[in-house]
Amino acid sequence: MRSHYCGDVNKSHVGQEVTLVGWVNRSRDLGGVVFLDLRDREGLVQVVYDPDLPEVFDVASSLRSEFCVQVKGLVRARPDSQVNSQMKTGEIEILGTALTIINSADPLPLSMDNFQNNSEEQRLKYRYLDLRRPEMAQRLIFRAKVTSAVRRFLDGEGFLDIETPILTKATPEGARDYLVPSRTYKGQFFALPQSPQLFKQLLMMSGFDRYYQIVKCFRDEDLRADRQPEFTQIDIETSFLSSAQVMDKTETMVRGLFNELLGVELGEFPKMTYAEAMRRFGSDKPDLRNPLELVDVADLLADVDFKVFQEPANDAEGRVAVICVPGGASLSRKQIDEYTKFVGIYGAKGLAWMKVNDASLGIEGVQSPVAKFLTADIVNELFARTNAQSGDIILFGADKSTTVAEAMGALRLKLGEDFNLLQGQWRPLWVIDFPMFEKIDGGFHAVHHPFTAPTGITPEQLEADPVAAISDAYDMVLNGCELGGGSVRIHNQEMQATVFRILGISDEEAKEKFGFLLEALRYGTPPHAGLAFGLDRMVMLMTGSSSIRDVMAFPKTTTAACPLTNAPGHANPAQLQDLGIGVLKTEQPKAE
Ligand code: AMO
Ligand code: AMP
Repeated sequence: MRSHYCGDVNKSHVGQEVTLVGWVNRSRDLGGVVFLDLRDREGLVQVVYDPDLPEVFDVASSLRSEFCVQVKGLVRARPDSQVNSQMKTGEIEILGTALTIINSADPLPLSMDNFQNNSEEQRLKYRYLDLRRPEMAQRLIFRAKVTSAVRRFLDGEGFLDIETPILTKATPEGARDYLVPSRTYKGQFFALPQSPQLFKQLLMMSGFDRYYQIVKCFRDEDLRADRQPEFTQIDIETSFLSSAQVMDKTETMVRGLFNELLGVELGEFPKMTYAEAMRRFGSDKPDLRNPLELVDVADLLADVDFKVFQEPANDAEGRVAVICVPGGASLSRKQIDEYTKFVGIYGAKGLAWMKVNDASLGIEGVQSPVAKFLTADIVNELFARTNAQSGDIILFGADKSTTVAEAMGALRLKLGEDFNLLQGQWRPLWVIDFPMFEKIDGGFHAVHHPFTAPTGITPEQLEADPVAAISDAYDMVLNGCELGGGSVRIHNQEMQATVFRILGISDEEAKEKFGFLLEALRYGTPPHAGLAFGLDRMVMLMTGSSSIRDVMAFPKTTTAACPLTNAPGHANPAQLQDLGIGVLKTEQPKAE
């Protein structure tokens, strides 16, 4: 039906007859000449119909937006004055010689020109129309190029693409499971995988020493711009490679993607320990484009007569840190109050501040509600540590370490945006040396997942002091977004049993949930390590999109529903009967 894609016709085709198919992006009748912008997935081209061919002209005059049509015509160069440099096909146009309406279109439920006028709900309900927009089509085309390049790289490195089950048992990655009832075992449920973690480890035990899969994962968790209930991982596992080798290989892959698809040279990724990331940026996924840093000052404030500072400064679990914002002395009271409210969201009880009006005057040159508690020496040392200059503001966070990191880390990001401080376009890094466990409400939780190996200790040493243990895990972070994460796995049954014990998983529970893994560890398990990237996040960043929804063909709403198909939906009574299920309660999610 076609000789070329609309978006691919160019000057080299001048003088040729082409046949195109596509959708009417716009058609306008300008004084007896019809200009038709025809669109397909590769772009737009202008077709001109003049009245020399009256029958064809009549059809052209009857076109409306989004009709699906076939066009035949002659490619001709546009006169210089009409060249449109904004358009890929802007140097040419097509003189239409034939036109067939393949299918008409009813008036559309969405505005195609002015898509900002469409609500997110409408866009998702009519996603097939939303995806006709070139901007959306380009993102999906780009995504396909990413997966193709990933496959080429991994295939070339000897990785095998092996599928793992979707109907399976729970894999703990920290979210709730999506459950699927079994008909053959009434009252029992499959879980959809939160990741293929356990299966990829089992594949290593089978000897497939390099595995990958571009695979759907399912997590029932609170949704945000960078989280969807079903999303795609580039999932990788290897045997006999160290963490450094896995990082090296996957970094080469990501560098190659950026180079091939964006023409960007990312260079070697720096490695930063978790401890350093938390200390300097209050986050384990620091955005290095932002030059602001948290600076620790507890030692300076241990003896001041101000409880807000003095107590956390003397508490082993406390922290006092400041951020110095260049030019921040111009902030008004109201703006400072707003930042105070902002840190409150993260549990901070206040946000003490110090405007540096004249740095050369030391304590005499500052304006601050807390200056009265400070000495000249302290202020001078604050200036030295933060490199404060006249016109800056120093903001204080004092609390439990975790609260300071969270509140000041979030404040750092906000200030970076508000003061327009971001530098450079791409700032990747590896965050390494995570703690094995964090303590929450008196219990231990795995920071990565329970199959992650500790670095350089025995099971006995791990059990003796779990909080001190560092894991052999690594996250790839780009511009403040966690692109991927992985680790060296435990390949020793005793170590795995110890980790389960520390996590409070009883022997029976471990046997019930992961007995197959514990058993498999007994039969000659190789050392293995891997990682998974979030494909959606990667494509979101590479295309400059603000949400992963924009790089998924059919995403869900923030309440995990699909307005297009109306999923989830009720099951009919016969289905429920078959499954042995009775519904106790029906509920709509609360409006956001
Ligand atoms: P993790 O849980 O860190 O690790 O997930 C790996 C990557 O997947 C992406 N991701 C998501 N993307 C969109 N929506 C979500 N809800 C979502 N959750 C995670 C992130 C993240 O970095 N089995 C381990 C990997 C391993 O150890 O090999 C795992 O799943 O980009
Ligand atoms: P107050 O003594 O409560 O009036 O607080 C004096 C200043 O300290 C105000 O600017 C508060 O915002 C600030 N402040 C109070 N609690 C904290 C805290 N935990 N961390 C940082 N600043 C605080």
